[in-house]
Amino acid sequence: MSVARLRSLRSVALRTPDAARAAEFYREVWGLSQVEGDSGVSWLRGTGQEHHILEVRQAERNALGKIAFSVGSPAEVDAAARGLAELGIPLVAEPGRLDQAGGGYGLRFADPEGRLVELSTEVEAVVPMEPQGRRAAPRKLAHVVLNTVDIDAAVAFYRNVLGMRVSDWSEHQMAFLRCNADHHVIAFNQAEWTSLNHVAYEMPSIDHFMRGIGHLRHQGVTPLWGPGRHGPGNNTFSYFADPAGLVCEYTSEVEQVQEDAWLCRVWRRVPELSDMWGTAGPPSKDVRSHMAGVPDPGHWWDR
Ligand SMILES: [Fe+2]
Repeated sequence: MSVARLRSLRSVALRTPDAARAAEFYREVWGLSQVEGDSGVSWLRGTGQEHHILEVRQAERNALGKIAFSVGSPAEVDAAARGLAELGIPLVAEPGRLDQAGGGYGLRFADPEGRLVELSTEVEAVVPMEPQGRRAAPRKLAHVVLNTVDIDAAVAFYRNVLGMRVSDWSEHQMAFLRCNADHHVIAFNQAEWTSLNHVAYEMPSIDHFMRGIGHLRHQGVTPLWGPGRHGPGNNTFSYFADPAGLVCEYTSEVEQVQEDAWLCRVWRRVPELSDMWGTAGPPSKDVRSHMAGVPDPGHWWDR
């Protein structure tokens, strides 16, 4: 039995040595809007209903700050704390009011590779900026891909502890996990070291997706890889590097999973399945090296 029933991927936090420059990119170029800022930290939202989807914080080196998921109520947060205790997983923050932009009630713990996970509820509501403008701005986070040194252990933890389901595998190299109808909100990639692979932002339509790529091109930002359409998840993709060298992705049309009817598949890792359109070609050495990033020592590292 998992400790919680996750409703959605809420936000992600990035840590980087030049947080101001990275935040400026996400605000002025990428299409997010800043909701709050403090010395060395910025919180940014998409056009959707989340208070913020990205936190960018000053640090000595690039790292994942945390991943936040929403749950249904404070009682569910409290129940998750009891469940984690029963499993012997220590809390990094006990259930309580969250001292951060948007507030809310939540808890924090670390996964086996030291990634900080937050479960939260009652975060401040914001008015969605949707619908229908022609501005190519991301609506919400689509997924976070994480490099892991042990894909089976990572998948087992997120399935058993957080109740996520495996939608598909790409051989024994990648695993795509969902917590709602979206094909995946987290994916693990077997790698040499633990790090953030990339963060994907969902555009409301494929038209917004393409116009977003065009808008970036006019600002001198060209894709590291894409546009194309992935086999697993059937989503469009175009990958870029932010000023910190972290990889960000525009995506759209993520496959919607009908829970009881979905059959998990193992996809072969061949070019025609990693890009079904055949427009993107295979991923370059450059994009692979950005996606590998630098080893992330985890939340306990003093930064
Ligand atoms: Fe992606």
